[in-house]
Amino acid sequence: MKEQTQILHSIPVDPLTGSISTPIYQTSTFVQDAPGVHKGYDYARSNNPTRKVLEDTIAKLENGTNGYAFASGLAAIDAVIKLLEAGDEVIAVDDIYGGAFRLFTHIYQKFGISIKYVDTTNAQNVADAITDKTKLIWIESPTNPTLKISDIKAIAAIAKANDVLLCVDNTFASPAAQKPLTLGADIVIHSATKYLAGHSDLIAGLVVTSTQELGDKIKFIQNASGAILGPFDSWLAIRGIETLTLRIKQHAENAQKIAEFLLEEKLIKNVYYPGLPSHHNHEIAKSQQKYFGGVIAFDLVIDDKEIASAIVSNTKLFKLAESLGGVKSLCCLPCEMTHKSIPTEKRYSSGVTDSLIRLSVGLEDADDLIEDLKQALEIAVKQSTNKNATAAV
Ligand SMILES: Cc1ncc(COP(=O)(O)O)c(C=O)c1O
Repeated sequence: MKEQTQILHSIPVDPLTGSISTPIYQTSTFVQDAPGVHKGYDYARSNNPTRKVLEDTIAKLENGTNGYAFASGLAAIDAVIKLLEAGDEVIAVDDIYGGAFRLFTHIYQKFGISIKYVDTTNAQNVADAITDKTKLIWIESPTNPTLKISDIKAIAAIAKANDVLLCVDNTFASPAAQKPLTLGADIVIHSATKYLAGHSDLIAGLVVTSTQELGDKIKFIQNASGAILGPFDSWLAIRGIETLTLRIKQHAENAQKIAEFLLEEKLIKNVYYPGLPSHHNHEIAKSQQKYFGGVIAFDLVIDDKEIASAIVSNTKLFKLAESLGGVKSLCCLPCEMTHKSIPTEKRYSSGVTDSLIRLSVGLEDADDLIEDLKQALEIAVKQSTNKNATAAV
């Protein structure tokens, strides 16, 4: 069976009523027949039938054994880090999502977990960084925001050889494009806020494990820490997943056209998109991703925050907002928005310059999106010409 058919039909018809749409069980508790005798549900933090459908669906989609839904992507990341103990060490991708950096550095280092940031685009760097304290390798591929690609299979082999867990944040690719567990990863997390839900209308996180044993540990943490996803948001995420493959195909098709257009623009220095043959790890992306995704980043020949701001402030279809993965296109300036919490030097070392712009390409017609970028770039060109003229006076 093809994936889209499988997704739609792995979401069960409600066994109680035949409802084709998963019912929203908006309840905090479940009546028991006798103390401890119930229908599999006792208290909605521990389990909820609507959330369970989402959890089982993402586990199937990622080829995992167990799935768990959290109140946000960061709550999902938090649950995975709670597998560790004081004294343990994490090797994390250097171009990491700003919120994960903040959580690792400002919360978990306080509890004795140390983090080493490494350029994981070369798997050998990971092997070189491992010590006997390393318990977890954390990668995103593609990364947020510079779309770096790491070789998941190669890093998984290094992790296995050293008895270290590998967790992949699969938010940018989505399971429609990439399945890290089939490449040897142990855990996958998602900000389901993005492509999985797909409509910019909720905040959610998911964890999928490759074994029941790991799944039981995450389940324990989910219940013990309590950052669960509510039933209505679970339902919205299920509804989003029903169209995931269709959306991802179109996001990627649009993004490829736009990335090729940006390559020709004189104001632009680098275009980061895994679907471009010029991308540093294009071949690896091709080997592990079915689609290259809907996010593009680019920076400017003149690394000037004001000029970059002029671009993102003058697009009309690309709305200036944090987040990505929704049906409507968004743009942002990471240095002032998503990646503001990363110290400037570290930000620059991972390629997030002051002029770096991130586009989340939506499902509008690609030609309209290109026209929108063209007119915003023209305004920025005028601004940079005026600036140069003023500087010359
Ligand atoms: C790659 C990645 N992982 C995790 C997160 C955190 O997800 P959330 O905002 O749902 O907490 C984000 C948010 O932008 C992200 O881009």
